[in-house]
Amino acid sequence: MAFDIILFGGKGDLSWRKLMPALFQAHRHGALPSDGRILAVSRDETDTLHYQQWLEDKFKQLSWDEDYTEIQFTAFLQCIEYLSLDLTETAHYHRVADWVATGTAESVTLYLATTPQLFTGICEGLAKVGLNHAGVRVVLEKPLGHDLESARAINKAVSGCFAENQIFRIDHYLGKQSVQNLLALRFGNCLFEPLWRREAVQNVQITIAEDLGVEQRGGYYDQSGALRDMVQNHLLQLLCIVAMEPPASDDADAIRDEKLKVLRSLRVYKDHEVNQYVVRGQYREGIIEGVKVPGYLDESGVPNNSNTETYVAIRAEIDNWRWAGVPFFLRTGKRLAKKSAEIVINFKAVPHSIFGMPMQPANNRLVISLQPEDKIELQLFAKISNREQLDSNRLTAVNLDLNFKDAYGNQTIDAYERLLLMVIAGRLDLFVRFDEQQAAWNWVMPILNAWENNTTAPRSYVAGTWGPPAASALVARDNASWAEES
Ligand code: BG6
Repeated sequence: MAFDIILFGGKGDLSWRKLMPALFQAHRHGALPSDGRILAVSRDETDTLHYQQWLEDKFKQLSWDEDYTEIQFTAFLQCIEYLSLDLTETAHYHRVADWVATGTAESVTLYLATTPQLFTGICEGLAKVGLNHAGVRVVLEKPLGHDLESARAINKAVSGCFAENQIFRIDHYLGKQSVQNLLALRFGNCLFEPLWRREAVQNVQITIAEDLGVEQRGGYYDQSGALRDMVQNHLLQLLCIVAMEPPASDDADAIRDEKLKVLRSLRVYKDHEVNQYVVRGQYREGIIEGVKVPGYLDESGVPNNSNTETYVAIRAEIDNWRWAGVPFFLRTGKRLAKKSAEIVINFKAVPHSIFGMPMQPANNRLVISLQPEDKIELQLFAKISNREQLDSNRLTAVNLDLNFKDAYGNQTIDAYERLLLMVIAGRLDLFVRFDEQQAAWNWVMPILNAWENNTTAPRSYVAGTWGPPAASALVARDNASWAEES
């Protein structure tokens, strides 16, 4: 099937770090339909040849799971063209339409990897030149707005140009292999479903930790902060996948309807409750892997009196029959002890133990690891006997362990590759509908407003640690501890 992809923001970081590598991977593994063309668009006055050389240099800066050959790369470059365009000039968009007209694509994907301030103008410019017909899909990168109001405004403008089933709002966490596995674990097996509820679950923890700081994105990040950058989207989407009811089918709306119900069941915190249930932090100078790293306020592009949070931990609650009373602890942060993303389901302890006490730790635990490794671990208790301890009645924690890389090698595909292939195939199930985004903003807004009205600085934490001590106190109130502390 012939297709065109047009990358707006073609020279941006996202394009060379994620999108082009994802397309290249799909191309060299034969997953990309053969008659594909890719057009990179940006304001830079350059041409296709120079763009290709630039991309070649950038690719050399990336680390690849599996080396690629010159032949593979050259074959990929043959699909790529470049167009220089001032995206603020609506009159220039006919050049994009002219390029599309030179091909025979059945589907045209418009990928908006630009600042969201340009989304409205780009969509209107494209619609004016007829690039909004039924064969066109538009992909919107986050952040989709800065708050509920701006998200609504962008959505209204985009919806004025495209039908909802043409709009692919991307959240790359939904493309991660482990999210697929979580869906399979929950809805492809009957083992866990009876236990996946308040009667058996003590608490759920979802962590996305990064060891990197804000890198060169200080200016953007300072306007955003961890709540907007990670919680409103990635963390809440993961929470939905964990907490949603089984959908009736794999139809995109069947899945998205269930996620929406979760988002709408999240208890919204009142102004005075925010301090009690939410911890915000900001990293100060510290040491990561033996290297001294600066504090957030010393990062370039960050004002030295900034109150922007680089860490957030939240005790969330879902007010419905399945989850009432079960704490969902969400946290994310920059410059934490290590890069890791995981979902931990802590089950309740046995009601009565006949084995030696204390049994440590006392709860079964299911860990779905998204990164650095893609694996699922189920912690059980077993009696490991040895001759010296024949009379011991104590249990030992053991892991049932499924590591997908060990089991399937490098066959697993990257999030962006999966999502791009799904856009080309026209499948919306791993993309976010606007009502979901709106519900997520509705939940996040009272927290943002409370912080805005309260000028107390975020709690500081040393770079390279697990965040402010107040986050441990937050979970301790429910007799819990974060996974790395237990
Ligand atoms: C992005 C955020 O959406 O996700 C970044 O804007 C963050 O700040 C990134 O670093 C994390 O993604 P991943 O896949 O590396 O965990």
